[in-house]
Amino acid sequence: MNDLTPTREQRTAALEGMGCKRKRVEDIRFTQGRGNYVDDIKLPGMLHGDFVRSPHPHARVKKIDDSAALKVPGVLAVITAETLKTVNLAWMPTLAGDVQMVLADGKVLFQNQEVAFVVATDRYAADDGINKVVVEYEPLPPLVDPFKSMDKDAPVLREDLVGKMSGAHGPRKHDNHIFEWTVGDKELTDAAFNKAEVRIKEMISYHRTHPSPLETCQCVCSFDKIKGELTIYGTFQAPHVIRTVVSLIAKLPEHKIHVIAPDIGGGFGNKVGAYPGYICAAVASIVTGKPVKWVEDRIENLTATSFARDYHMTTEIAATKDGKVTGLRVHVLADHGAFDACADPSKWPAGFFNIVTGSYDFPTAHLAVDGVYTNKAPGGVAYRCSFRVTEAAYCIERAMDILAQKLKMDPAELRLKNFIKPEQFPYHSALGWEYDSGDYHTAMRKMMETTGYAALRKEQTEKRAAFKRGETREIMGLGVSFFTEIVGAGPSKNCDILGIAMFDSCEIRMHPTGAGIARVGSKSQGQGHETTWAQIIATEIGIPADNIMVEEGNTDTAPYGLGTYGSRSTPVAGAAIAMAARKIKAKAQMIAAYKLEVHEDDLEFDIDGFRVKGLPEKFMSMKDICWAAYNSVPPGMEPGLEAVSYYDPPNMTYPFGAYLCVMDIDVDTGVYKVRRFYALDDCGTRINPMIIEGQVHGGLTEAFAIAMGQEIRYDEVGNVVTGSFMDFFMPTAVETPHWETDFTVTPSPHHPIGAKGVGESPNVGGVPAFSNAVNDAFSFLGATHIQMPHDFWRNWKAAKDLGAVA
Ligand code: CDP
Repeated sequence: MNDLTPTREQRTAALEGMGCKRKRVEDIRFTQGRGNYVDDIKLPGMLHGDFVRSPHPHARVKKIDDSAALKVPGVLAVITAETLKTVNLAWMPTLAGDVQMVLADGKVLFQNQEVAFVVATDRYAADDGINKVVVEYEPLPPLVDPFKSMDKDAPVLREDLVGKMSGAHGPRKHDNHIFEWTVGDKELTDAAFNKAEVRIKEMISYHRTHPSPLETCQCVCSFDKIKGELTIYGTFQAPHVIRTVVSLIAKLPEHKIHVIAPDIGGGFGNKVGAYPGYICAAVASIVTGKPVKWVEDRIENLTATSFARDYHMTTEIAATKDGKVTGLRVHVLADHGAFDACADPSKWPAGFFNIVTGSYDFPTAHLAVDGVYTNKAPGGVAYRCSFRVTEAAYCIERAMDILAQKLKMDPAELRLKNFIKPEQFPYHSALGWEYDSGDYHTAMRKMMETTGYAALRKEQTEKRAAFKRGETREIMGLGVSFFTEIVGAGPSKNCDILGIAMFDSCEIRMHPTGAGIARVGSKSQGQGHETTWAQIIATEIGIPADNIMVEEGNTDTAPYGLGTYGSRSTPVAGAAIAMAARKIKAKAQMIAAYKLEVHEDDLEFDIDGFRVKGLPEKFMSMKDICWAAYNSVPPGMEPGLEAVSYYDPPNMTYPFGAYLCVMDIDVDTGVYKVRRFYALDDCGTRINPMIIEGQVHGGLTEAFAIAMGQEIRYDEVGNVVTGSFMDFFMPTAVETPHWETDFTVTPSPHHPIGAKGVGESPNVGGVPAFSNAVNDAFSFLGATHIQMPHDFWRNWKAAKDLGAVA
């Protein structure tokens, strides 16, 4: 070795593999305005479509007159449900086993529902056409309050389901009832409550909100009449699923459908499902023979595409006097809006809500969820969370604080007392999950030490005394949250979408010069997959990450994958990438053995190539092996170096975290200040610490928004009153607090590289931390539970209701 020979550290660093804070390669194009989003796609002769939408939340559609619209210059067609019926597309199946109107068929069921699709030579002409379509409505009584949906005299919303007393998920109790889903041991849980020394019960609501990605939902559909092929460019989080769904709905052969998801400006669950815009643009293209673009505006996105949450969770905990939990009972009333278009794996009508036992060792639990219809937009997507896990985490984390308050115990101490212990993993929860790994006590204690938790509590006690003495009008809250996520749907035994198992995939093709391409079934919407997937391959096979190009989103080139949502990319696609890389490595080892004239077993992998054991100078770099793969493979071996892996995970992964929010609230104005926010995340093996930090910052900002004001609100007659960013809280850098991030590492025992997902953790853990901070502050004035969102007005109102403001 001479001075120029790189050291082991230099060789490792040159790979920029796992653990490296590699800069995001996609940002080179994004920061220069060179991204390629759907609205950048302009095809020759392209037309534009736009929707006539209902001003009524519930009304009969008596007549649609398009004659004036068709006279508007540039307007070519007006598509209605009647038009769609001719091709059997007036209704479409939803991912939840329900059906949904594509365009209003006889009735509208929520405000801004799609009524007609106007196709024109440009967007302005389409808009002018919309204004000329005359729709005659007969208003019907709206059903807004989910708690009244199953009243005897409640208006019946879904006339297509009248008399059907069974749905996709079993029996229905009422015409507005969708399903009842129960899990757990009712008898055992009731017995635990009967003999409980202490009980709490609270109705904890998680309000309706919306993922509101920067780029709205959009597509360009282009039908080639000669070839009989349909190409769809769209904002799709799961392009392959869209291809299959389009094939099934439109009865087009799947190989004649090309789905391409180019760059996507945020998804957060909003871009998983199929929307009427996609169907109408495809039909319009088939009818006109020209490409048709549909681009939602912000109001349409907020009011008509998939909402999130809207869970009303009556929660009870049974415990001993000294704070050991003995039972959990939860009933959820789930408001699904007009159609059940929830994006969950098929068998899970309430997603993975049965993770509601959280991080605690509940000996028994019982859960029942009732889904109901109301006159609101359909959806129920996993807004930066695994299916309904955010709701579950909020439910248990608020309930634990309420129990701590009742027991007069510190909320952190109560959690430490009830945590699942490290030696209990893999842990079987009372509601049926097998948690893969965790070390909750270490994470919680690290949070408490780093933040100076004890000193903060002391300060709070002093501030409370000062408030009582009239020396301050500020109340201080400490919001503790400890969450366990469940991400990586999923094992095929548990999870499918429309019968397709939720595996994921990767194909790696190495070129002769030691560069390569990896095609993956996931689809980044900003998470940095082009950067991190190459890092996994770099470490696995010893080729620099810069030499690996990552491609996602084209159904013609990527292997079939189930897409990116629910933080499933790292647990599932990430594992497929590692497994495909290992296949490459195994073939490379055979080639190296042949070239080095030794038996394969005499070789060991050493950072960026294979070395003969005991003979360090006999080494063949991976780069050289790539070359050899194309000219001198062992006799009988096929040339080339490529591999594909379809990975069906044995279990999901269970990331966790300990968060603390320190907040001061002025009781006279309701104005809050987030003084500190500390977030410790454990996502197992960390691929790129810088990207993880970015993910945590983004997720915490969304959590802050949701907890402190972001809401889709309807008035009592069904008008959406938060339909634009004037009313829907979208924090900017001005409002967003400073984030302190930290971590522990507890690898997943079943994942090939030990990694768990992380993208959603901060949203899941963040919301309860903010809400617990507000509730902790007000508990001093006698509050038990104040519903989110905690905006200034509601804080002031709480202070007033509690008698702190005259
Ligand atoms: O499915 P999605 O991409 O939204 O979520 P994820 O699997 O949590 O990954 C989000 C980003 O964080 C990706 O770029 C991952 O590669 C990265 N990540 C990481 O660097 N290390 C982990 N243990 C988990 C995720």
